[in-house]
Parts: sequence; structure tokens; C-alpha cells
Amino acid sequence: MLREKLINWARVLADCPLVSRVLEGIDLHSDNRMRERGMLAQAFEFKMINDVPGDYFEFGLWRGKTFIYAHRLSQRYGCKGMKLWGFDSFAGLPKIDDARDNIWSTGEFACSDAELRKLLRRSGVPEKHYELVPGYYEDSLNEALHARLSGAHAAIVYIDCDLYSSTRQVMSFLKRYLVNGSIVCFDDFYCYKGSPDQGEQRALREFLVENRDITFVPWSDYAPLGKAFIVRTSRSENE
Ligand SMILES: C[S@@+](CC[C@H](N)C(=O)[O-])C[C@H]1O[C@@H](n2cnc3c(N)ncnc32)[C@H](O)[C@@H]1O
Repeated sequence: MLREKLINWARVLADCPLVSRVLEGIDLHSDNRMRERGMLAQAFEFKMINDVPGDYFEFGLWRGKTFIYAHRLSQRYGCKGMKLWGFDSFAGLPKIDDARDNIWSTGEFACSDAELRKLLRRSGVPEKHYELVPGYYEDSLNEALHARLSGAHAAIVYIDCDLYSSTRQVMSFLKRYLVNGSIVCFDDFYCYKGSPDQGEQRALREFLVENRDITFVPWSDYAPLGKAFIVRTSRSENE
């Protein structure tokens, strides 16, 4: 009887606009619901438990939401010395070259390098903890960058660059930084109603056909469209 009364009160309360806003906010930012932040929390915990070596790589930064989450989590999980690498054009999405990517538009998500640095500073992310690599991937993910990253590993990778073509470029750049236990999160894996022939899903499928010595073990789906994988590769020296 009392239990039913309590449930009814909870329902009435949850219908109140202010309370439902607060609940929505908690839900959105909770690590329990598998949204971006919850997924990243799992990834950092996985890295810590398994002692996976390496840095955090994020492709597609916009205004830094997930980059800031990653920084907070790197502090929470005591990843001392872990560098956060951010790769973006700082001019938004490039020219869209695949007609099937028509849910996006060229220039969408533009945020300058200076504006992003300001947002990071305001969120308490010290400059010494991160490196930003500017430019469209077809130009910026080059040999000079490989030289700069020499010896680095990618423990956690967040791919949020939306387009098939961008994800293809990222995957082919990324492969030499992957180790056993790298976590790779695709923010838009189930875009296009989950079609395997479009976007990030298509880019990953093609990458795996071309790189038979790398396996992506499906790990976790997260809301609303993301999927994360654990990497296994015979190229890596770690077990
Ligand atoms: C959806 S936004 C990223 C959102 C961000 N992770 C967040 O948490 O809010 C996509 C980003 O990918 C970047 N991007 C996509 N394709 C790119 C490319 N080929 N070269 C450089 N940046 C690219 C865009 O500039 C944009 O900032």
C-alpha cells in the first residue's frame, strides 16, 4: 500500500516540468546511462584495469564537449602523463564528397582553434595536457605528424568526424598507433538508420577488409548512435 503511494507520488513529481528537466539533466550526464560520457568513463576504466599504454586521440572536436569529458576522466582515473590529442579542421566539415552523407553540410560544426582553447581553459583543461592538430585530415594526417607522434600509442580513440570520407582518412592514419586493448569509439556508428553501407560503419568495414591482421572486437553500444570496439592486432608488441 505504502509502496504504491510512493510510486504514485514519484510519478506525479516526475511529471512536474522542473523536476523532469532536472531528471533529464541527470540522465544525460550520468555515467550510468551509456551516453558519450558514460562510454568514455568505461573506456578509461578499461585502460586503467588492463594497463593499456597510450594517449587519448579525438578526431572531430567542434566545441570540445567530448574532449573535456575525456580530460576530466583522465584526471579521475589518474592517467598521469597521458596526452590528449585533438584533430580538427577548426573550419567545420569538409566538402561532402559522398552523396550519401547528405544529412551533413559543408562547414557545419565550425569552431576556431582560439575559441576551442578558450572553452577548454574555462573548463579547467590546462594547455600542457593537450595538443591540437589543425587542418583537414587529407592534409594534416601526414608524414610530418607521424614523425611528431613517433613512439605514441592510442589507448583511447574517439572518432566523431561524421563523414565516411573523414573516417576513412582517420582509420588509415590511426592504424600504426593501435595496440592490443586500444578502445575505439565511433560516435555515429548507427547513423543512417544503422546502414552498414554508409558513414563510419562503412569506413570501418572497408578498413578491416584491407587490414586483416587487425580485429575490432565489438564491445559496447552507447546512446544514441555510438559503438565502441576493443582492438586486437598482431602488429602490437603488447599482449
Ligand atoms: C560533430 S562535430 C564533433 C563533436 C564533438 N566531438 C563534441 O563532442 O561536441 C564533427 C567535427 O569533425 C570535424 N571534421 C569532420 N571531418 C573532418 C576532416 N576531414 N578534417 C578535419 N576535421 C573534420 C569538424 O570540423 C567538426 O568539428
